[in-house]
Amino acid sequence: MGWVYFCIAVLCTLLSNELTEAGVVGVNYGMLGNNLPPPTEVVKLLKSRNITRIRLFSPDHDVLTALKGSGIEVIIGTLNQDLENLGTDVSNTIDWINTNVVPYADTIHFRCISAGNEVIPSNLATYVFPAMNNLRTALNAVNLGGIPVSTSVSTIILGNSYPPSQGEFSEDVRSIMGTIASFLAENNSPLLVNVYPYFSYIYNPNDISLSYALFNSTEVVVRDGSLGYRNLFDAIIDAVYSALEKVGFGAVEIVISESGWPSDENGDVATIPNAQMYNSKLIGHVSSKSGTPKRPGKGIETYVFAMFNENLKPPGTEQNFGLYYPNMTKVYHLDFK
Ligand SMILES: *[C@@H]1O[C@H](CO)[C@@H](O)[C@H](O)[C@H]1NC(C)=O
Ligand SMILES: *[C@@H]1O[C@H](CO)[C@@H](O)[C@H](O)[C@H]1NC(C)=O
Ligand SMILES: *[C@@H]1O[C@H](CO)[C@@H](O)[C@H](O)[C@H]1NC(C)=O
Repeated sequence: MGWVYFCIAVLCTLLSNELTEAGVVGVNYGMLGNNLPPPTEVVKLLKSRNITRIRLFSPDHDVLTALKGSGIEVIIGTLNQDLENLGTDVSNTIDWINTNVVPYADTIHFRCISAGNEVIPSNLATYVFPAMNNLRTALNAVNLGGIPVSTSVSTIILGNSYPPSQGEFSEDVRSIMGTIASFLAENNSPLLVNVYPYFSYIYNPNDISLSYALFNSTEVVVRDGSLGYRNLFDAIIDAVYSALEKVGFGAVEIVISESGWPSDENGDVATIPNAQMYNSKLIGHVSSKSGTPKRPGKGIETYVFAMFNENLKPPGTEQNFGLYYPNMTKVYHLDFK
């Protein structure tokens, strides 16, 4: 019998390695709109599209309740304005976990808890690591130590990103990022990174081609030593890997907590065809096993931004990243595998 169990265990391990190598794709469920559908309708919509992972920016209890038993995995964020509280007193952090995670933990699979979103650099940045540490302690205290803790960063943390091998953290965040990377390495948790070729392109349209930003280049555009880059998305990720290597933690994995392209409000750059091209090629790329030139051979866990157009975000393109209008009509079609 022991032999049979051993074989089953080996088979399961092989199978799960096989499954985790293909990247998984999720969607950001942003809620900065005053006309969005109720969470129960959104969960039905997600299920009808076979979207099995989402990221939430705050522990919204209506959403968490709607997600119970849905089988949808969740990255849950703490609000940025809660970081100081969470980072300065672990009893606050234990309260946060007891309120927002414990009641749902047996019916929702939490992929990760993110201590804030894009707060490095800012005047809250010093609270990120203490908050992560306290979240880790609080989760361990309630036997939920298996849930990873991380934070979500924008690529503004890079002082240099070109070519990708020269990627490094800017001086003002290097020490904070080093401490965070050390924590992530020790706990075998990923760094969450928001990656937007769209913004790189619009700030440097003379240096960057639209095709390179849109995954529409069939040829190598940037050569970096022995590595060749056909798309800007990979180049940005590898610049972050280079930065992690330079602070001594190149083994930390990167999960793409946001990527997307707006469909309106910026001439012929933010259009429905461009948004559809970017996101459909993004999904194809990250769910294949190609990886990035620096980290080839496995998929890239990625969360598309975002589920809905959100009318309480700043006017312009920011309100037009959605895959759906608030009335649940698709802005354009995307296939989730
Ligand atoms: C969702 O997955 C089910 C089962 O794998 C499949 O039958 C169905 O066609 C998929 N739906 C979509 C919208 O991809
Ligand atoms: C995508 O690539 C094709 C083939 O090179 C080109 O004709 C087309 O203009 C490109 N589209 C965009 C939006 O870059
Ligand atoms: C949903 O909203 C969009 C954008 O306002 C609109 O174009 C579309 O006609 C609406 N669909 C329905 C079914 O009301």
